[in-house]
Amino acid sequence: MNKKDIENIISKIQKENKAYSKKSLLDPMVFSGGVIGRQNEAEQFIRFLLGYKQGFVVPLISVYGRSGAGKSTLVRFVLENLDVEFCFVNLRKAKTVFGCANLILSELGASPIKSAQGINMVVQQIGDVLENILVTKKLNFFIIVLDEADVLFYDKRGKPSDFVYKLTVLEENLRTKGYLLCVVMISNSALYDYDLDDRVRSRIGSSEVFFEPYKKEDVLKILHARAKDAFKIKIDDSILEHCAYLSSLGHGDARRAIDLLRVAAQVASIKGEKISKTHIDMAQDELQQDRIEKVISSASFHFRLVCGALARVTFLTDSEWHSTSTIFKQYSKILPKDTKILSYRRISELLSDLENTGLVISQTGSRGRHGYGTQYKLAVSPEMIGRNVDDKWWKTIVEAKISHLASSSGTTFPAPNSGMLKHLRKTLEETNRMTWENYVGL
Ligand SMILES: Nc1ncnc2c1ncn2[C@@H]1O[C@H](COP(=O)(O)OP(=O)(O)OP(=O)(O)O)[C@@H](O)[C@H]1O
Ligand SMILES: [Mg+2]
Repeated sequence: MNKKDIENIISKIQKENKAYSKKSLLDPMVFSGGVIGRQNEAEQFIRFLLGYKQGFVVPLISVYGRSGAGKSTLVRFVLENLDVEFCFVNLRKAKTVFGCANLILSELGASPIKSAQGINMVVQQIGDVLENILVTKKLNFFIIVLDEADVLFYDKRGKPSDFVYKLTVLEENLRTKGYLLCVVMISNSALYDYDLDDRVRSRIGSSEVFFEPYKKEDVLKILHARAKDAFKIKIDDSILEHCAYLSSLGHGDARRAIDLLRVAAQVASIKGEKISKTHIDMAQDELQQDRIEKVISSASFHFRLVCGALARVTFLTDSEWHSTSTIFKQYSKILPKDTKILSYRRISELLSDLENTGLVISQTGSRGRHGYGTQYKLAVSPEMIGRNVDDKWWKTIVEAKISHLASSSGTTFPAPNSGMLKHLRKTLEETNRMTWENYVGL
């Protein structure tokens, strides 16, 4: 490669970029300058906060809703436009309760504390720093936003409930000194649903702001606003609609919609084509594959098994919806013999976590004589999940299904050739000895 080649690459990319007037608007991390809709949520939130003018404010506010529902965007936008002092901490960067506490401390401008000094020390330090800020700035009200607060509850050993309680005690201590503190916790599930003790529950009371998932029309409005300023030419309504439709199949996710549009525009411009529905579909495949890889590669062993269990039963039975008990049974079936089984309750928690990744959709409803229950469905193809959980394992499942279909339709299934994996042949032999129902394990 020489200098000329680099120049050619640059001019090619510049040509591709000609379609955009402000490409950064296709990055969901970039704030577009305004919030579309969400008036009710904003009003509820502001009502909780403005109590400080009457000398009373709730200690904890739980802001919750699905991914991409606009929670972080709206909370930040409201606070930036209210005359209040706040600190916005994204806990995603932390791994433990102690790490979260230290992150709050460093966002408040103080140095982190060594873990040997214990959580009480960090909370006390947070209190001291807050008091100092309030005294220096001559204020009597402060807001701490804990975004992605779900992280706290992953660290069961770190006693998350106790930590939240400590924050409320901190608020009480500050109140005796004439200062008000409000902690806003943003999460995917209601704070009330996490494993909290009654001391904390009673303090949350009814101070919750729920963000309904967006409907397709809401996502479309958000897309319209971004596309109008991001591209030089007008993007066809039908294309934006297709984008809004795909990103609202599970639950309306504005982030996913913006990502889809960006990747589709990129695919189209590299090919030198005008953006079309086909590019949106290609972008959808690419993003789904990325998301699956990201979720599964960072997942715990049992989480992967739950993904595998749902993929397996979906693929083998060709039915989409499966109850928690069916998935639990599948999970027990594929669990290695020497591994301790997780409880039914834990598996249902993992299923909720899985739903929050967007790979799975749930519905709760009547199941006739079986009463009410939650059912789950994959939002992506079982093959994509299965292959990512464990490629070799997934092959055995595919072969078993082919073998079953072939034998039930009377065609002989070709014997595995010599190149095929040994364990694959073993599974097939096992399958042949079992009834299909036994193999599926329902
Ligand atoms: N009402 C809205 N108006 C304009 N843009 C929005 C709106 N809602 C969401 N967006 C855009 O969608 C993207 C995702 O929104 P946001 O990060 O606020 O979601 P979230 O609810 O915090 O999701 P998560 O639970 O995954 O953190 C952002 O780029 C944001 O700018
Ligand atoms: Mg967020």
